Amino acid sequence: MVTKEENELLTRVSNGAPMGRMIKQHWWIPAALSEKLEADGKPERVRLFGENYVAFRATGGRVGFFDEACPHRGASMALARNEDNALRCIYHGWKFSVEGVTVAVPTQPQNEEQYCKHVPLKHYPVREEAGIVWVWLGEGDTPPKFQDFPFTGLPSENVVAFRQRVKCNWLQGVETTMDSAHLGVLHQSWLESDIANASVNQAPVYQIEQKPYGFRYASIRELPNGKSYVRANSFVMPWFGVIAPRNANEKTRAGMFFSVPIDDENIWYWHITYVLDGKVPYHPYWCPSTPDSWPPAAPGGPEDNWGQDREAMRQGHFTGFLQALGTEDFAILESQGPIVDRTKEYLGAGDGAVVQVRRCLLTAVRDFMQGKLPTFAQHEDIDYGAVRPIAEVFDGEAKWRDML
Ligand code: FES
Ligand SMILES: [Fe+2]
Repeated sequence: MVTKEENELLTRVSNGAPMGRMIKQHWWIPAALSEKLEADGKPERVRLFGENYVAFRATGGRVGFFDEACPHRGASMALARNEDNALRCIYHGWKFSVEGVTVAVPTQPQNEEQYCKHVPLKHYPVREEAGIVWVWLGEGDTPPKFQDFPFTGLPSENVVAFRQRVKCNWLQGVETTMDSAHLGVLHQSWLESDIANASVNQAPVYQIEQKPYGFRYASIRELPNGKSYVRANSFVMPWFGVIAPRNANEKTRAGMFFSVPIDDENIWYWHITYVLDGKVPYHPYWCPSTPDSWPPAAPGGPEDNWGQDREAMRQGHFTGFLQALGTEDFAILESQGPIVDRTKEYLGAGDGAVVQVRRCLLTAVRDFMQGKLPTFAQHEDIDYGAVRPIAEVFDGEAKWRDML
C-alpha cells in the first residue's frame, strides 16, 4: 500500500509533474515505430507525457522530431509538406529543416535570413534502435547515454517490435509486466511447454536482487517432481521489464515489455522480442500486420465487461479473452480504472516485485526533486548489455544467481 501523496507522485507524469520531468530528463523515450515513417511521407502525430509532437522521416532517411504546433501560429506540423529534408507548414509556408533549423519564412518581405535565426522551433534528438524511434525530451543540450540493451545494433531480422494503446495509467502497465504471479493464473489458457510450470504452482517464492538499473528477481516455483522452475526477470528503470522466454532451452531470446505514457490515463504498451544469434523465428504473434495496434485490444469496454466471452469460459477457457495472451492483460489494465487508488489495495506475498518497482521509482523521483542525479539513472556505470533474463528448471537448489 502507498499513501495518497505517493500514489500521485508515482502515477502523474503530465503538466510538469516530477515523475514526468524526471523520466524525460534522464531516459530516452520510445516514441514511434521506425517502419511507419517513410522518407518524404506522412508525418506522424506523437503524444507523450501529455504533450504533442510530430515525427517524420526526411528525404535522406533521417528522422526529425518537433513540437506539433508550428512556432508561427500553431498549425499542426502533421499537416506539413515533407520535402527537401524539411517540413514546410502549409498555413504560411514556413520551412524547418530536419535538423531543426528554420530555413524559410516566405511571408517575411525583408531580412528573411536574419528573421529565421530567431524563430523558436522546439526540436529533439532522436535515435533508432530495435525498429523504434527513441527521443530525448529533456531540457538542455546533453542527452543521457542511451540504454544499450542487448538488442542494440542487432540486424533488423533479429528484432520485432510492436505496441498497443491501452486506457490506463502507465504504472499499471509496468506493474503487470513485473507481476510474475499472474502468469499462471490469468494466462493459464495460453500457456504451453515449460511455462506451463507456472500454472502447476501458482504461488511462486520471490528472491530479489537490487541492481544499479533497478532490480532482478527470480520467481521460484517448486514442482511436484521435486525440481524447481525459475524465471528470473529484470526491472530496468523507468519502465522496462526484461522477461525470460517461455522455454528453458532458449538462451538467446528475450522479451522486453514497457509502458510509455501518452498522458496520465493512456499508454502505449510496447513489446520487443529479440534473438541475439539469429532471426526471430516465424510465429504469427511476432509478425503482426498492424504492429502499431498489437496484440488486440480488449474487444469491448466497461459497459459490456470488456467484451469477455462467457460462453468460451463455459467451454473451458479461463478468461474468455480468445484474441491473444496480451488481450487478457489489456482487459485487466482497463478494468482497474484509469488510475488505481493504491491506498485501497490489499497486497500479498505475490506482490513482492510490484512493491519493489514502486520503491525504485519513489527513490529516484525523490532524488530528482532534491536536485540530485536519480539513483538508477547513472547510465555511465551500468552495463545494460548484461541484462539477460533466465528461464530454467533446476534439479536441486535453484542456483539462478550463479547463472550470470
Ligand atoms: S502557422 Fe505555420 S507557417 Fe503560419
Ligand atoms: Fe500478463
